[in-house]
Amino acid sequence: MYRSDSVKDDDAERTAFRKTEKQYKLYYNTNAKSSKKKKLPIPVDLSEVIDFKSILESYASDGELPIGVSKLECNFDRPVFCLVDCPGFYFIAAALSIEEQCRWIKESLVSFPQPPNRTNHNAMYGAVHDLFDAAKDRKLLVEEEKIVGGDSLTGVNDNVCSRRWACSEELDSSLGGKTCKSIPASVLLRKLRWSTLGLQFDWSKRSYNVSLPHNKIPDALCQLAKKMAAPAMPVGEEFKPEAAIVNYFGSGDMLGGHLDDMEADWNKPIVSMSLGCKAIFLLGGKSRNDQPLAMFLRSGDIVLMSGEARERFHGVPRIFTDTENAEITALEKRLSDENDICYLDYIKTSRININIRQVF
Ligand code: SIN
Repeated sequence: MYRSDSVKDDDAERTAFRKTEKQYKLYYNTNAKSSKKKKLPIPVDLSEVIDFKSILESYASDGELPIGVSKLECNFDRPVFCLVDCPGFYFIAAALSIEEQCRWIKESLVSFPQPPNRTNHNAMYGAVHDLFDAAKDRKLLVEEEKIVGGDSLTGVNDNVCSRRWACSEELDSSLGGKTCKSIPASVLLRKLRWSTLGLQFDWSKRSYNVSLPHNKIPDALCQLAKKMAAPAMPVGEEFKPEAAIVNYFGSGDMLGGHLDDMEADWNKPIVSMSLGCKAIFLLGGKSRNDQPLAMFLRSGDIVLMSGEARERFHGVPRIFTDTENAEITALEKRLSDENDICYLDYIKTSRININIRQVF
């Protein structure tokens, strides 16, 4: 399941997974004193959250691992950690360099939401081109109705609605008092929730729709996914990236517990990369009633889920956008150039997850 629950809401509220989601979710202090000032997030106890960054650091200094964590014996250029009780789950901490993170943040904002890739905006606005550039240029998406024909006897007109980017000055002068609907590109960018690459996923049918027009996954992303998938692949096989879902998270957003179960062969991993603000990931069991494990996901971390791990409910109840917890200082430095400010503005309060799948 993706972004929705198969269990009825009342039941879902009572599961161990849901309770843990609520434990970590962002809630604000709404008492009278603080509401006058800035809304303050209610502090959360993070002491139980598995931290693979510190596991990596202590492993590098003394070769020790905490109980329940092991290191995969494999020819990989950095440690691949496993959870002893979760076969098929792999964590590669700090797998991506800062340059790679910046590259995929930019691609996720500029090229991945470009048609024929679909986004959550398709349902309401049709194919939206050049969203990021339009937001940078403070444009508005304008909806114009044109009369293309009609019946002179009945007086009924045929109207078509077209959309285009316009700047607000152009809009003021060209409309001459006519009203039309418009929405700032910056708002649409903030409301971008997902885009799909390669084979397109049809959320309403919860399946891949191979008849929808699509481009192949970009070669550089394919190469990266193949390399990162290797530790989780059956011996002698190479991962074939055929589809990817890019999730965009703003402050307060969460991804509810779900299974990614629409791919044919669960022995092939999902390669999931984190970019931007730090998040909490919950790895549950085969039932929502199983108590999930919580772990931090930082920019540059890669998670692989294959085999048995693919039967486990998982989700993201929290992202951290405050300076202390977001842990994006290195990204901020790298994106401090004048030309990159637009990316920095976005990512300092956001998280992007790119998860790449072999479908068949
Ligand atoms: C997913 O489970 O589909 C995405 C997980 C993440 O955002 O890290």
